[in-house]
Amino acid sequence: MATSADPLPALYPPTVAPAREGLPGFAYLAKTVVNPLRGVPERAYTEAVVHYRLFGTDMAWVARPDLIERVLLTDADTFVKSPMERRVLGPTLGDGLLTASGATWKWQRKVAAPLFRHADVLSYVPVMAKAADAEVGRWRARSGARHWAGVVDVQASMKAATFDVIANTILAGCDAREAAIIQRADKDFMNRTPWAIAATVAGLPPWMWYPAKGAMTRASSELRAAVLGIIHRRRAERAACERGPGDSLGRLLAARHPDTNEPMSDERLVDNITTFLEAGHQTTALALTWALYLLARAPEWQDRVRAEVVGVAGQAAIGPEHLDALPVTLRVLKESMRLYPPAPVLLRQATEACTLGDVPLPKDTQVMVSIYVLHRHRALWNEPDRFDPDRFLPEREQQIPRGQYIPFGFGPRTCLGMPFALVEGLSMLATLVRGARFTWDGQHRPEPVSQVTLAPRGGMPLGVTIL
Ligand code: HEM
Repeated sequence: MATSADPLPALYPPTVAPAREGLPGFAYLAKTVVNPLRGVPERAYTEAVVHYRLFGTDMAWVARPDLIERVLLTDADTFVKSPMERRVLGPTLGDGLLTASGATWKWQRKVAAPLFRHADVLSYVPVMAKAADAEVGRWRARSGARHWAGVVDVQASMKAATFDVIANTILAGCDAREAAIIQRADKDFMNRTPWAIAATVAGLPPWMWYPAKGAMTRASSELRAAVLGIIHRRRAERAACERGPGDSLGRLLAARHPDTNEPMSDERLVDNITTFLEAGHQTTALALTWALYLLARAPEWQDRVRAEVVGVAGQAAIGPEHLDALPVTLRVLKESMRLYPPAPVLLRQATEACTLGDVPLPKDTQVMVSIYVLHRHRALWNEPDRFDPDRFLPEREQQIPRGQYIPFGFGPRTCLGMPFALVEGLSMLATLVRGARFTWDGQHRPEPVSQVTLAPRGGMPLGVTIL
């Protein structure tokens, strides 16, 4: 399928087949439990607004940049965070930054914003590069003849590595027992979220049983209890607030409400630290996982990235001074997050009746901005399903309208950790690709499953050869 002007073979990595129009409610639910993306109607990939009713709830898929700008920015007070999202994530994330709204959200955002200042984030690069290097070291330790480390579940490796980064930056050190509890609980919760999404869409009352509910509740409690334990321990350490920039927890402990001068309650601290843990390591791990998959499928791009990194840094550890000189690596990361946005859907609720495009929507409509759908919309992108990092060459990227490429969201609720995630993604991808070659077995075509984050079904087995 490559054209004569295009020297590289075209790669069309796995997609999710959309739902037929007019799927009856229970058929829709059955798809949602397997993968919420399978329930997205086909028209959502071609039209600006698709509106229908499901189990008595009005739902609208929106995928036109100017309308997205309206929903997420200009009319953000009309399109508020959906109670549906709160219901799925609330038991774990409480009223923290991601899930809160109104004044509760505002003051937390104000307090937390300085935790992600550019200079502080750059000071974390050595921790990030070291975490990636440690993974390469683990693969090296198991490698044998011709440096072959075997087939590795790269998704599990990336989760472990990005957890290390969060634990040594935002949390500034949690012990191994706490880390193990958090990681297990996190997995138990995340793997079951499609059930919670289906129960919410079906309008089940919050008290009603559904499969996986007990396990999710248990996982949430364990996760929150482990985080509370860390907070207590850190509070007991008198110097908690005087550590370096890595001490986000210390800063949150020291924060005061601008009006009341009250500190954050323990409950709110748990909400936010759990949010940073959840929002902060799964997403970046998945960005790296999908990027490595795409590079394994497109070895020419992998070679380009490696050549760039070696040219810029040789074999030295990646540092903040190298990041601006890695445009190819950055393009690959951006294109990976276009095809596989780690946070695939944003959910809002219309607080009043309104019209989006020319579609009238009643009050309380659930407005879905599916980043996955938007990034593959037929009317917006040329060859939307094709892997083409050169879409992000500066002259081409400039032409992408605001609101069309939004892996980190848009407007006042834009990802707070975006600078952290970009620096982390870039420094880790550079370190990994310089340290190892990733190969595809020619068979594994993982379905992207929307379980709050976008995970590959069956993990991400890739061949790894140490370089
Ligand atoms: C590749 C990595 C990441 C991606 C793709 C991502 C994506 C997103 C998106 C799309 C939102 C907007 C949600 C909405 O509008 O409903 C968001 C919000 C948020 N993210 Fe991230 N994120 C990433 C990494 C991180 C990291 C590393 C942190 C922190 C350590 C973080 C913390 C947050 C927080 C606190 C919010 C809520 C912001 C608010 O509502 O004020 N994220 N993220």
